[in-house]
Amino acid sequence: MYYQILDHLPQVPQHFIDKIMNNIDNLNFDEYMKGRRTPVAGNKMFPRSPVEDDLKDWIITHITDRGHLIDVAVTDYDNNKVALRPHTDRTREYTLMYLLKTGGDDHRTVFYKPKDTTINVVRNMDFDYNELNEIDSIHVPLYTWTLLHAVTVHSVENIPGMRVAIQIGLEENFVGL
Ligand SMILES: [Fe+2]
Repeated sequence: MYYQILDHLPQVPQHFIDKIMNNIDNLNFDEYMKGRRTPVAGNKMFPRSPVEDDLKDWIITHITDRGHLIDVAVTDYDNNKVALRPHTDRTREYTLMYLLKTGGDDHRTVFYKPKDTTINVVRNMDFDYNELNEIDSIHVPLYTWTLLHAVTVHSVENIPGMRVAIQIGLEENFVGL
């Protein structure tokens, strides 16, 4: 399994979500994006910033105390780029994601294996689509904790609009995925 929907975990209280969305609305987004690095060359930018302390405390109490990065990740219009191209994450084995805005109705998180089976897939890699075979995909649901294996090659497709997610980095599979 490359993902698991954890709908038994509690939903994030609305006032935290309102605050995140207000903060994003109040940002000068172009300025915000300018200071960020593109994580993978040619990729859509997906900058992250840490969540505020009160939400971090709520997550530690109600979701997990094992997250080593707890961020809000935002992407918006970015020179017609509509995908996060195939990659493995640099900083985490698993991502526990709580999606607040999808980026597009047809959004899809796709998992792949390299056609060349001798390639050892580790962290911080990127690939061209033609090097890969699709093995699975998920339409990550809104407002639902979803665990994703971040070191399986994955992309996010069809996200022309703004996508917003709370993301927690985990080193171990705390739910037995
Ligand atoms: Fe990723």
